[in-house]
Amino acid sequence: MPSPASVPRPVAPGSPPAGSAYRASPVWPLTTERLRLRPVVPQDAEAFFAWRSSPEVVRYMYQPPWDRAAAEQKLRAWSAAPFDDVGDVIVLAVERDGAVVGETMLKWAAGPGQAELGYAMRPDTAGQGLATEAARATLRLAFTTYGFHRVFARIDEENTASVRVAQRLGMRQEARLVESDVRDGVWSTEVVYALLDRELV
Ligand SMILES: CC(C)(COP(=O)(O)OP(=O)(O)OC[C@H]1O[C@@H](n2cnc3c(N)ncnc32)[C@H](O)[C@@H]1OP(=O)(O)O)[C@@H](O)C(=O)NCCC(=O)NCCS
Repeated sequence: MPSPASVPRPVAPGSPPAGSAYRASPVWPLTTERLRLRPVVPQDAEAFFAWRSSPEVVRYMYQPPWDRAAAEQKLRAWSAAPFDDVGDVIVLAVERDGAVVGETMLKWAAGPGQAELGYAMRPDTAGQGLATEAARATLRLAFTTYGFHRVFARIDEENTASVRVAQRLGMRQEARLVESDVRDGVWSTEVVYALLDRELV
């Protein structure tokens, strides 16, 4: 009798082999109509500081505002981080007309072909669809380059701007986790949005 490890697992049409994402080498930068996306470098610290130091921006990211030392430390760490196994994170700088105006993030999540999406933009760029455009490019990277099967976003229910980004991307609300976390000392509710590789438009 074969050992469980040698039994082939069923593979759905279009799924990556064995339900696992690839260790791919993307071609940078990713380009969209208005944006370029590329992995961060340490020199992005000053640009990231512009929004990551703002309490309003980081409020729903469940992270404290950065000081300059934190910006430098984080960008150094992210720039050197691998992206080839569960738990790894790749952070992309979003450029418009040569200036870094935002970030997107993919986290290699547990489970077959699962990844988490994140995004944040400099506040003065809001309301132009740039976050949606950057996030869509990041979803395409996740599905077509890395071969992830499902990408999800965890969003504080009160973060309506982020919920609208997820909805514009065609992501489906899959869960509402009532009072599953604490923000600013009060219970907060998280909604989970997700998209499958075959659903990206
Ligand atoms: C979440 C966040 C990135 C959303 O930014 P945003 O500016 O609302 O999103 P977009 O750049 O996609 O712009 C969408 C808005 O521009 C409008 N818009 C204008 N031109 C557009 C275009 N060409 N395409 C799409 N939308 C366009 C849309 O109608 C929309 O307005 P609405 O939300 O009032 O309906 C931003 O609020 C942010 O950085 N927040 C802090 C970090 C954060 O919370 N991240 C998410 C954690 S889960």
